Amino acid sequence: MYLTREEERILDGEYGWACQVCMRILVKLGELYGATRLIPISSAHISGISYKTIGDAAVNFLNAIIEKGAKTRVFSTLNPSSIDPCLVDRLSKGLVEKQREILKLYEMMGAKLSLSCTPYYEYAPPKNSNLAWAESSAVVYANSILGAWTNREGAPSALASAIIGKTPNYGVHQSENRKPSILIDVQFQPKDEVEYGALGYYVGRIAEDKIPFLRGLKNPSLDELKQLGAALASSGMVSMFHYGKEQRLTDKLEVVTVEGEEIKAVMDELSPSKFTPDMIFIGCPHCSLKEIEMLANLVQGKKLKDNIEFWVCVSRYVKNKGEKFIEIIKDSGAKVLTDTCAVVTWTDKLGIKKIMTNSVKAAHYLPTMNKAEVILASMRECVKIAYE
Ligand code: F3S
Repeated sequence: MYLTREEERILDGEYGWACQVCMRILVKLGELYGATRLIPISSAHISGISYKTIGDAAVNFLNAIIEKGAKTRVFSTLNPSSIDPCLVDRLSKGLVEKQREILKLYEMMGAKLSLSCTPYYEYAPPKNSNLAWAESSAVVYANSILGAWTNREGAPSALASAIIGKTPNYGVHQSENRKPSILIDVQFQPKDEVEYGALGYYVGRIAEDKIPFLRGLKNPSLDELKQLGAALASSGMVSMFHYGKEQRLTDKLEVVTVEGEEIKAVMDELSPSKFTPDMIFIGCPHCSLKEIEMLANLVQGKKLKDNIEFWVCVSRYVKNKGEKFIEIIKDSGAKVLTDTCAVVTWTDKLGIKKIMTNSVKAAHYLPTMNKAEVILASMRECVKIAYE
């Protein structure tokens, strides 16, 4: 891989050990994927923020690079952590302190404590700009909806890119790799956000690392596409999808047809039994302003049942922007959390075993990461269960 004189000097350690380690990560990655050079990025989104998911080895690494002067060179946002102000009294002091230490380290490095998986609501990246984003749901949204360009970075490579300000030029940073390579003929219309998620999950499995073009979707909303993309990235290695008018297709592609029965099978697999939930979780990925408004309209004037928790996860930005909706939601008895989500915190330590959610991505991760049973239901159905 070609390196500029300055990049070579970083690799040789002239800019210190922290930059050298980060440059080594990027060069190795570039060599592995056949990149010819590094390209500048306009922002990085770093995952691996939750102490629950990264553990002590990563905290030690962060401490080591910060001691050697690691600083972000580009605007850098952070994925959710494991704590929120309304959870700190319910988790052990040790866990809370460890998480606070991690946040302090990232802040010292110069990253913005956005603590959300939807950084694009506050900072939409410029169209066609190159990014280094981790968090697969945000990657798919950035590439497919916003028209920015980012590979699916892992936590170490997004961090390395934040510190160097560059990423290896391979994958979907190259326009020839952004073309659709499989055509999905959608023969049914998803009726709500859960079915959009189930469709994404099914397509992700088929597509693996190919880029799907979804034909036949009728005017999906941005929130429905967000659910589709998040689920797509959970079951497959997909980093983007296309949808819309088929005229844009020039190549002959393999065609796969999806009908209602495939979607039903996904729902049955992810949501195998009926039960009364301990908790309802809305906001995976973190809610948009529109979703908050929709939820506020559904719960206005209602009171949450006694034996159930209702979590709504949003970014700090959306919480501030949607203050009047947030007040209505809180008045109904639901909890509005920023900085975390039900997957990356310890719901099991909070005594929560049965979770109902409208997110297929959450339904994919909760059984393994949180030892929880899951039932899928739309936001509307969740409100019915928790309030009526
Ligand atoms: Fe975000 Fe947590 Fe879902 S980080 S995408 S809400 S699993």
